[in-house]
Amino acid sequence: MKILITGVSGQVGHALMRELNDHELIGLTRQDCDLTNPDQIKEVIDHYQPELIINPAAYTKVDQAEDEPELAFQINRDAPKVMAEKAREYNIPLIHFSTDYVFDGDKKEAYLEDDPTHPLGVYGQSKCAGEEVVQEVGGLTYIFRTSWVYSDIGHNFYLTMKKLSSERDELKVVADQGGVPTSNQFIAEQIKHIIPQLNETNTGIYHLVPDGSCSWHEFAKEIISQTNPQFNLEHLHAIQTHEFRTKTKRPKNSVLNNAKIKQTFILNPKNWSQALEKVIHG
Ligand SMILES: NC(=O)c1ccc[n+]([C@@H]2O[C@H](COP(=O)([O-])OP(=O)(O)OC[C@H]3O[C@@H](n4cnc5c(N)ncnc54)[C@H](OP(=O)(O)O)[C@@H]3O)[C@@H](O)[C@H]2O)c1
Repeated sequence: MKILITGVSGQVGHALMRELNDHELIGLTRQDCDLTNPDQIKEVIDHYQPELIINPAAYTKVDQAEDEPELAFQINRDAPKVMAEKAREYNIPLIHFSTDYVFDGDKKEAYLEDDPTHPLGVYGQSKCAGEEVVQEVGGLTYIFRTSWVYSDIGHNFYLTMKKLSSERDELKVVADQGGVPTSNQFIAEQIKHIIPQLNETNTGIYHLVPDGSCSWHEFAKEIISQTNPQFNLEHLHAIQTHEFRTKTKRPKNSVLNNAKIKQTFILNPKNWSQALEKVIHG
């Protein structure tokens, strides 16, 4: 199958290029197609005539988005709208990615796909708007919400903890925010399994995360114990959100319920900690 993938320098795009390599892949960087340019998006799709579009590219700088709302909305709302329109014109599927940040985190239980959205900042608002326009266009569109994405490339919590635990003796990590750590590799493996099953009966929004959940502090503990055993875990201190200031408020509960995706596509995902082991040890 000829698959066009955006954002291949990013975490998820990179893993998709690796995992889907038995397909004919057209991987796009920002240089190949700038998502702030709708005409260029149309031209690239017309030129390559893909049979599937996958869009992991996004404006992902959560705090910086507060100062660049127009840019965030161009990339996270306007660009996926153009892709959805083109996918509909050619009657091909579009896989788009979204985020736990569409929710405010006030729910006590794990979030379901049809729970009301209420983003806390510009990044979440722009991703939420992206979901809405893609759904409005309709056709064979899929929105996979994921959370706490990490990998061995780029900037993410996993690499930060590995680095800091080798440089410092004491670390403080937030323990009152919960979520589901999701590796780029896990996402790409599930997408590979899902692609042959895409059809007009199963379009919509899905939560694409492993089983289980944890706090940032528990995630840090697991990362450090597996990558840096000489670090004394008694010196990994649990702190509260108000002790770690960020420009944008983060959802307290980011846990996404993955029952719908498991049932629809017969997935049997690993627990988040098994997926982490796979990233670390292969
Ligand atoms: N990271 C997370 O923790 C997280 C959590 C939940 C959901 N998600 C969602 O999951 C998806 C994948 O995230 P990720 O972590 O793989 O993101 P990422 O590592 O930040 O990668 C984003 C990609 O988008 C590209 N991009 C940004 N602006 C562009 C533009 N104007 N034109 C073309 N390409 C552009 C980047 O290119 P450059 O390298 O040139 O900048 C990069 O390749 C996104 O939809 C994101 O919202 C992420």
